[in-house]
Amino acid sequence: MKTLWPRSLFARNFLLLMALTVTLELSVFAVFYQLVQRPRAESLAGLVASQINTQHLMLSRLSAVERDATIAGINGAGGLQIVTQSPHAIPASEADGGLLLKDFVTRLADQLPPDSSPMVAEDGRAMVRMQVEGQQYWVVLPLQAQLRNRAMTVAAGVSAFLASLNLLAAWLIQRRINRPLRQLQRAAHAVGSGYTPDRLDEAGPSELSAVTQQFNWMAENLERNDSMRSLMLAGISHDIRTPLTKLRLALAMGQLDEKGASVYINQIDHILGKFLDFGRTEGDEAPTLVEVNTLIKQLSAEFEESGSWFALFLDPAIRTVPMRALVLQRAIANLMENAARYGKEGLTVETRLLGEHISISVRDRGPGIPADQIEHLRRPFTRADAARSGNGGTGLGLAIVDRLARVHGGRLELKSPRDGGLRATLVLPIQSAFA
Ligand SMILES: Nc1ncnc2c1ncn2[C@@H]1O[C@H](COP(=O)(O)OP(=O)(O)OP(=O)(O)O)[C@@H](O)[C@H]1O
Ligand SMILES: [Mg+2]
Repeated sequence: MKTLWPRSLFARNFLLLMALTVTLELSVFAVFYQLVQRPRAESLAGLVASQINTQHLMLSRLSAVERDATIAGINGAGGLQIVTQSPHAIPASEADGGLLLKDFVTRLADQLPPDSSPMVAEDGRAMVRMQVEGQQYWVVLPLQAQLRNRAMTVAAGVSAFLASLNLLAAWLIQRRINRPLRQLQRAAHAVGSGYTPDRLDEAGPSELSAVTQQFNWMAENLERNDSMRSLMLAGISHDIRTPLTKLRLALAMGQLDEKGASVYINQIDHILGKFLDFGRTEGDEAPTLVEVNTLIKQLSAEFEESGSWFALFLDPAIRTVPMRALVLQRAIANLMENAARYGKEGLTVETRLLGEHISISVRDRGPGIPADQIEHLRRPFTRADAARSGNGGTGLGLAIVDRLARVHGGRLELKSPRDGGLRATLVLPIQSAFA
């Protein structure tokens, strides 16, 4: 069975359509025959039998001369013919006239005397024997056109026509499926070989278009990941090389004391930490009930140790929230680090409960970011020009926070208020936040 069933979709479609058409035709034929043709043949046989019986009765009452004259009259009328000579004929049961003729003759024989022996002449006309006063006659019925059962011939013709329609339909269906499939196959091969294929055409039937859309989405993601990986590798080597060069230079000039060395080592550590953060996926950490305000107090205490003081305005309505604690801590720490590093003064952290969301705003009164650069600085590896020269950052902090927020159904808002500085606000939904 496995080997008989064709593998090509075209052959399968064609066979299925064929099976359907043949079943349909056979059913229609059977119903038509049983409910229409057969009853018609039987009622016709009834009529013809009663006519023959009447004529038999009438002819047997006439004298031989009157009988011949009457028969001549009947034959002249052009309907059934009564002949004495047996035409060349074969028994109806052996004749090849189809089901309808057989039904007719069987029914006719039932209603005539047993010696009527229905026959079928060469020209296809049915005939029966009639004995009148010892004389044998043949009644030839003018019925061949009605009784020649052409249904099978017609059905075969219609079948052949429908089969060619099926072939055409299968080919058309297949063509619509094949084009996008071949397109997908080529594109998947390109992806497998490490190339980025052109965006596939998403037009076509909705099912195929959904697959193509998903493929395009996957190919874009792969490309984005690929370019992100190259960007990260380039970023790591560039950013780490700067403190390393400085370290080597200080060593060569014999100017490196322990304090100086730890500055460069801390820088390298910071850079590596940021890259790891950026490359990390957050799926591993299980959500727990986090006391957001307490977490912020702890972070603020850590910053205070390194000389940055944050004023805290924490909404007491926020109690425990189901979140991924480490992820949330990383996001807030990045914003506080920026405020401490670039804003330096007027540092505040404010939390608020906003219905289904919580917001965490980190604010400073430093130089802020020009409005036209805000969106740009969210992207990975971007730093403001002034900061580029000396801050030693990787340009990943805001990109990390922005991604964490979006992955968890929230957003990062960056605003430069009129009275200066920057306000970075993390808005997170309570239900799904980090859940
Ligand atoms: N509070 C702020 N005030 C002024 N400028 C800021 C502030 N926060 C960020 N920026 C600017 O945005 C740039 C991008 O910040 P981001 O945190 O993404 O990277 P980074 O701080 O340079 O490096 P990293 O955080 O990876 O160590 C910074 O270089 C800085 O120029
Ligand atoms: Mg930063």
